[in-house]
Amino acid sequence: MIAPAELQNIAIEIAREAGALARERRAEGVSIAATKSGIADIVTEADREVEALIRDRLRVARPEDGFLGEESAPEPGVSGVTWVVDPIDGTVNYAYGIPSYAVSIAAVSGEPDPRSWRALAGAVFNPAIGEMFHAARGEGAWLDGKRISVNPEPSEAGALLATGFGYDPATHAADLARVARVMPLARDLRRIGAASLDLAFVAAGRLDGYFERGLHPWDHAAGALLVVEAGGRVGGPDGVPGRGLTVASGPALFDRLLAAASEPAEPGLSNG
Ligand code: IPD
Ligand code: CA
Ligand code: CA
Ligand code: CA
Repeated sequence: MIAPAELQNIAIEIAREAGALARERRAEGVSIAATKSGIADIVTEADREVEALIRDRLRVARPEDGFLGEESAPEPGVSGVTWVVDPIDGTVNYAYGIPSYAVSIAAVSGEPDPRSWRALAGAVFNPAIGEMFHAARGEGAWLDGKRISVNPEPSEAGALLATGFGYDPATHAADLARVARVMPLARDLRRIGAASLDLAFVAAGRLDGYFERGLHPWDHAAGALLVVEAGGRVGGPDGVPGRGLTVASGPALFDRLLAAASEPAEPGLSNG
């Protein structure tokens, strides 16, 4: 089996090229190509073009691996490794010209299902700022080659937290109730608009914690590895990030944040 560090290098190289394309398209002007499940769930031509570029590059570099991306049909592989790709995470920011969006590329082994996969390597690249977050399983997490780590403990004044709101308006009332339950732990709350950056920022100690319901595998695959490799915890009521609740933080805050963010009826704490 190929070493995680080698997969990481492939993810970094392709994320950089994909990010440059996203940035170039952004500079030319972006229009919304379609809405998917609702008004916030948009896709631009650039989302599709960037995913196609990543897919092409992976086909050449790793022809036997599988592929799971947001904008195209999944493709099983034969090597046991699958690439989980969000070509542009934060498409609403991208479409509005807010420089908080990212290319997220992860390599996982086993079934391409967050409940059982092992994340091996990941890269989260924000091309607007030029920041590359990257991690390799068992080896650590870095921002542009410098080691990063989670905040071991939030300040006594409270935690700087981030969240997101799902695209389904039917869940907004529950999301707001969750925010109300969590606020007693918070110094302040951010809605950055790109789950991969929320997770990368937890890994880098820029945020103390993050919680959101309804993430897809490509939203969290690379970011969750960053958090774990930076010494943090990621999980949910079922113990893994997923379509239910995802919570990420340093170890000291995790259980309290998970308990506050969980639905009162959801099962209790898990190992994350
Ligand atoms: C979305 C962003 C957003 C989060 C949504 C995601 P997309 O991804 O990460 O911050 O709140 O849950 O779906 O659609 O911009 O790739
Ligand atoms: Ca999307
Ligand atoms: Ca996404
Ligand atoms: Ca996306």
